[in-house]
Amino acid sequence: MSTRNSHLAVVGSGIAGLFSTLLAAEAGLRVTLVTKGALAQSNTHFAQGGICAVLGPEDAAPGDTVEAHIADTLKAGAGQCNPDAVRILCEEACADIGALERFGVVFDRDADTGRRALGLEGAHSAARILHAGGDATGAAIADGLIRAVRDAAALGTVTILENTFVRDLVLDAGQVTGVALLAPDGRPWTLEAGAVLLASGGAGQLFDFTTNPSVATADGLAAAWRAGAAVADLEYFQFHPTALAVGGNFLISEAVRGAGAVLRDSHGTAFMARYHPEGDLAPRDVVSRSIAAHLRSLHAEPGATVFLDATGVEASHGAGYLARRFPTIDARTRELGFDWTREYLPVTPAAHYWMGGIASNLHGQTSLPGLYAAGEAACTGVHGANRLASNSLLEGLVFGRRAVESFTAGSFGLWPGTGAKTRTPWPEAATLDDGAVVPAVSSAAPGDSLLGFDRESLRRLMGARAGVVRNAAGLGEAAAQLASWRRQAEAASKEFAEAGGPRPATQAEAELDNLLLVAELLVHAALTRENSVGGHFRSDFPEPPGTGRSPHLWVRDTSAGS
Ligand code: SIN
Repeated sequence: MSTRNSHLAVVGSGIAGLFSTLLAAEAGLRVTLVTKGALAQSNTHFAQGGICAVLGPEDAAPGDTVEAHIADTLKAGAGQCNPDAVRILCEEACADIGALERFGVVFDRDADTGRRALGLEGAHSAARILHAGGDATGAAIADGLIRAVRDAAALGTVTILENTFVRDLVLDAGQVTGVALLAPDGRPWTLEAGAVLLASGGAGQLFDFTTNPSVATADGLAAAWRAGAAVADLEYFQFHPTALAVGGNFLISEAVRGAGAVLRDSHGTAFMARYHPEGDLAPRDVVSRSIAAHLRSLHAEPGATVFLDATGVEASHGAGYLARRFPTIDARTRELGFDWTREYLPVTPAAHYWMGGIASNLHGQTSLPGLYAAGEAACTGVHGANRLASNSLLEGLVFGRRAVESFTAGSFGLWPGTGAKTRTPWPEAATLDDGAVVPAVSSAAPGDSLLGFDRESLRRLMGARAGVVRNAAGLGEAAAQLASWRRQAEAASKEFAEAGGPRPATQAEAELDNLLLVAELLVHAALTRENSVGGHFRSDFPEPPGTGRSPHLWVRDTSAGS
């Protein structure tokens, strides 16, 4: 086992991880960036639609304001947002977009005005979505930031560890002091650090239909849980309404509906106006649920889909518009044999974004000293029960930067807002026991072949029982199956331990172990919330909760001794 020292270990190479690495390095910290694949393997890379911000008066859409962005975010979040986090997100957006540009990210510009081009997406009251490469915004941002991180590494201010898996957090007297790693060759070792920032993304791989890449296995949240960090809002999972239903769940950006595309059923009927006054541009949770409800109302066969009709967009903007404005989608759909200028695309809701995550405050601090979280791995409550389109990349920027500022200020003896040499008090600590405490679960589990279950079985179970529409019977079935897999995993793990081999030994085993753990947590949270709001719909409890945010925070029960 080898060790190396850093001021800050950043885990994850999406927008939050890359941006905070750069800012920390600029602040003079020794930073190690750890990622389990190549730097470019992240959810950020696949983001299409864009990143939203109300730019200065010159550049914003006429009449648009930061207050309107705040109002839209709160409304989409279905009353469950943390309003302080929302205000910060929207007010600080413009400055962080500027920092992105400083690091070399180039946004598309309007050919006539030369100003940054702005798109419209669901539940936004104005066009305020910046994009790059048409519909390749995430890739353009990731590429720009990766170049800057590699330049910093060449100067020696950043160490990059690719293909290195963070198995667990290392604690010393309750303080996070590093990460336990699996090196590219599978050897375990430890990286010591003054603090750890988890920017390790979400968990789309929990579900059979997902827009997320195979790396989205919630490793950061699982490690944080095992270490005793509080987690929050795990039942809120966003299903994007328009993933391609064939050839993998390739995302068809909401910006396509923003440009005028409509959802139709197999009879060619546009149906969204029946379900919400904003029709095809209703909030995502509403559109996904409406698709499920509409298919049910048609007594559709299992596996039936609805369709996205973008033919009118091409007709109204002129030939070649779709290919110019959405080149990535155009290329992929043509590869799959569709000509979307003339025919409808079969689409389905697919797991897209986890609003829940590691509970963190407005400075990225978690309930564990020395542990920070940002981006999709974190839960500040900024997205409430349903994230507004194109607020996710923005969250990674704003709260990644705030986490670095907080850590930096602490390192130099001053915590933000306190002026004291002490850690900012954990503001939500009093609410940690708001709900029941989830029983501790052990972390060791062997790999697919030895477990008797595999990732695909788990994904199918979660899709069928804990997806867009849930109820007690289905969630109970899921909980029972997960518990049975847990028992199998523990038995197999014991056998391995007796034979002298620590488990999990490989990244694949560890990812499956993490997915099993977060599936258990999500199902438990979904069973516990007996109402319906945002990305959590219970057919047996369709009523919304009372007014006001009602976060569910959970912490591991260590009294059982595991
Ligand atoms: C999309 O382009 O529809 C996805 C953007 C997002 O998830 O905010």
